[in-house]
Formats: sequence, structure tokens, C-alpha cells
Amino acid sequence: MSERILDEPQSLYRLDSLGMFDALYHLSEQCRRAWELGTALTVSARDEIRQVLVTGLGGSAIGGDLLRVFAGRRLPVPVTVNRDYVLPEFVGRRTLVFAVSYSGNTEETLSAYRQAQDKGAQVVVLTTGGKLKEMADRDGVPVITVPGGISPRAATGYLFLPTVAVLQRLGLIDPVDGQVDELIRHLAGMREELKPEIPREENRAKQIAARFYRCLPVIWGASGTSEVVAQRWKGQINENAKAPAYWNVFPELNHNELVGFQEPEELLRRLQIVILRDAHDHPRVQKRYAITREIMGGAVAGITEVQSTGEGELARIYSLIYLGDYASVYLAALYGIDPGPVKVIDHLKARLAEE
Ligand code: PA5
Repeated sequence: MSERILDEPQSLYRLDSLGMFDALYHLSEQCRRAWELGTALTVSARDEIRQVLVTGLGGSAIGGDLLRVFAGRRLPVPVTVNRDYVLPEFVGRRTLVFAVSYSGNTEETLSAYRQAQDKGAQVVVLTTGGKLKEMADRDGVPVITVPGGISPRAATGYLFLPTVAVLQRLGLIDPVDGQVDELIRHLAGMREELKPEIPREENRAKQIAARFYRCLPVIWGASGTSEVVAQRWKGQINENAKAPAYWNVFPELNHNELVGFQEPEELLRRLQIVILRDAHDHPRVQKRYAITREIMGGAVAGITEVQSTGEGELARIYSLIYLGDYASVYLAALYGIDPGPVKVIDHLKARLAEE
């Protein structure tokens, strides 16, 4: 596919059968609705909450990671993300469990939900419907029902913000309504710079996609802030562009991955590294960026730094996510790929259902 497609909005939309660009453009409105849905839920804690756990997979789990990073700094109790059929042993009556599945039919999440119920955990379900909603309604478990019709990975607002709202409602975190308002405004501003109609020379997401094209993206975030964003960029490149990508975090990568850039040369010449930066990264981590680049020298095809924008933590984290989401859909277009359908996941789920 010619790189010219990046500057042909109509071709970009034509390739996008499930409306990923449309969903991205409306993320700001989605966040507003998600916050309304979350804050409307009447919920109270039966027992004192000692742990928070989010159980889900793929696009429904990344909201859990966002919660772990965002609420982790505000909560006196740990937040764990579970991407498995089985829940950790610590889950019990004093655990708040969010069972999250956009479709409501993901078997690992259904299994984890049943376990949470058996263990007497305080469960809140977040879904569009499916078996998960049926079971929760039958069990009298509170459900936040979010609108369907988009891909789970395009629904991060719906799959994340209601969990924050519940923590706020339970008095576990101080009110963050101001941060949510800023997030909604910030996304509405950013989309006017990232949408398909903005030409490549002015569009950061298109420029990043062009760097990734025919290369192997490696995304580096920082522990406790942009780590979730690095993971998100990788997943979005996989699912939207149907291409491989890898991620890691500072400072951990300075203790292993950094050593591994000597061989094989042919592969290294195809690596495009992105460093995700945030003004609030640990000061020692900020020093590591420059030293790491210095050590890397010219070992890889390129290293790009991306800086978060916005004031509050929510807006800053999401500014990086939003950029990566757009870049992954533009990368799909460069490969001539429809970003929406994930036939491989659908096939795997159908095969498992036969077993
Ligand atoms: O993006 C996707 O489609 C997947 O990663 C799904 O989110 C994942 O398979 C889990 O499905 P669900 O979100 O419906 O629970």
C-alpha cells in the first residue's frame, strides 16, 4: 500500500469497516457517558475493602491496568488485574471485584466471576450484556451496562471510567470529577489534531505510523505511569494493524533489555523504538532516557520520544493512549488492512466453544 493513503481520508474511512475512526473520534463523548453511567450506580461496601481486583481479558482488561496505575497512587489498598480463569487465593469477602467483559461472553471472565461469587467477594459487573449480565442479574450483583456496537478495544472509556466512579462512590478515592472534565475536554481538542482530515505533516499519529511501517515497533513506558500506555500501544498495533509489537518499562529495561541490542543486526535495523514520557515520571527515570539513547547509539532504525499533554494524570495518561490508538489505525491503513475485525480472536473463541 502506498504511504499516500495517509493523506486520503476517504480511502482511510473506506478501509475501516467497523468504524474504528468514528469510535476514536467520539472517545470524548464516550468518556462523558461512561462517567455518568458509573456515577449513577448505587453501591455500598458490605465489608471493609482490603483489595481491589479487576478480572477481564484483552480490551476489557486494559481498563483494569489503567485503574491499577491511576487509582494505585490514590488508594490505601492494592489493585490487581487478573487475566485468567482462576482468581488469586487472597480474594474473599473483603475484595472488591470488577468483572469486566465488553461482550459478556468471555469464558475466562465468566469463570472468574463464578469464583468471585463463590468466595463471597463484593462484585460489580461491567458489560454490554451477554451471559455475564444474565448471571449478575440472577445473582443480584450490581451491573453497569455500557452501550454495545463498538470493538472492546475502542471502548476503554466505558471499560475504565465506571470503575473509577465506583471507587469514588465507595469513598475509597477522593473525588476526581475535575480530572474527568479535563479529560473530556482534552480528548475533544486532541482529535482535531489527529483525525484523518489532518495531513501527515501536521498529524503526529500519522507520522508515528509511517515510522512503524515495515518495522518492528518497541514501546517503552515508565513504571507506574506510562507502563499501561506502552502495553496498550502494543495491543493496539497487534489488533488494529495485525502486526507484532513489543513493550517494556523503565527502569526495569535498563537491567536486561538494554543489553540485547547487539545482534542480529538485520533485525535491529528494523526496530523502531518509542519512548513515552510524562512530566511526572520519577526524576531518576527522566535521567535514564537520555543515557539509554546514548548507549543505544545507532543500533536501531529509530528512537522517537513522545511527551504526554494535559494537566491532570487522567488527561496525561489518556493523551498518550489516544495518540497510540490513532497511530495503530493509520498503521493498519499503511498495510492495507481493515483495523476493525479480529478474525483470529473470533476463530479461536469459536474453536474453543466446540471443545
Ligand atoms: O479487542 C478485542 O476484541 C479482544 O481483546 C477482547 O476484548 C477480548 O477477547 C475479550 O473479550 P471481551 O472484551 O468481550 O470480554
